[in-house]
Amino acid sequence: MSNSENQHKVVVLLGSPRKKGNSSIIAREIAEGAKSVGAAVESIFIQEMDIKACQACWFCQKPDSDGCAIKDDMQKIFPKLIEADSWVIATPVHWFNMSTQTKLWLDRCFALSKYGDSPFNKKIAIAIAYGDADPYASGAVNAIRSFQDSFRYVGAEITGVVYGSALERGDIEKNEAVLIAAKKLGKKLAG
Ligand SMILES: Cc1cc2nc3c(=O)[nH]c(=O)nc-3n(C[C@H](O)[C@H](O)[C@H](O)COP(=O)(O)O)c2cc1C
Repeated sequence: MSNSENQHKVVVLLGSPRKKGNSSIIAREIAEGAKSVGAAVESIFIQEMDIKACQACWFCQKPDSDGCAIKDDMQKIFPKLIEADSWVIATPVHWFNMSTQTKLWLDRCFALSKYGDSPFNKKIAIAIAYGDADPYASGAVNAIRSFQDSFRYVGAEITGVVYGSALERGDIEKNEAVLIAAKKLGKKLAG
């Protein structure tokens, strides 16, 4: 990330086990769009991080709590999420919803309010890849609905969602309309 105080900061959460998979490619284009209007971008590949499942201990919700009781890599990620102006969340559809990796991360965001003020005061972009031709039959719509409900619950704004059908790693590169939409969304995030 840049040192500039005023530079728009984007953190990209890559939620596929395939680092260079289709959802990561959509996220890459969103990031490129954001960079083209001056943003600084940092990517986090969730699969490589030690992120345990939320234990539902509710420690983070206690008034005197200093954050999440689980001391794993989320402790490094929380400050980055707080510092960022925008989040890009990239996920494949696995079994008709977001990936397990993405959900692990999302559940742990329950503790985010202990790491800074207005923790969800972000612009949020969602990138989704799925194998079925149809976004409804694929379950992509379930993933979108899950994000909508989650971010509505915490008062966050979803700036845009880019989704496309692709099965094999890299297939989404052939879908020019998706790549163009992604770049445009990146510009909107940071512009
Ligand atoms: C375990 C698993 C479950 C999947 N479940 C679905 C599904 O429910 N609906 C669907 O359309 N595609 C499904 N797919 C296909 C992926 O969504 C598709 O390959 C997508 O391009 C993966 O994105 P990625 O390259 O970012 O990982 C599944 C793939 C895997 C490995």
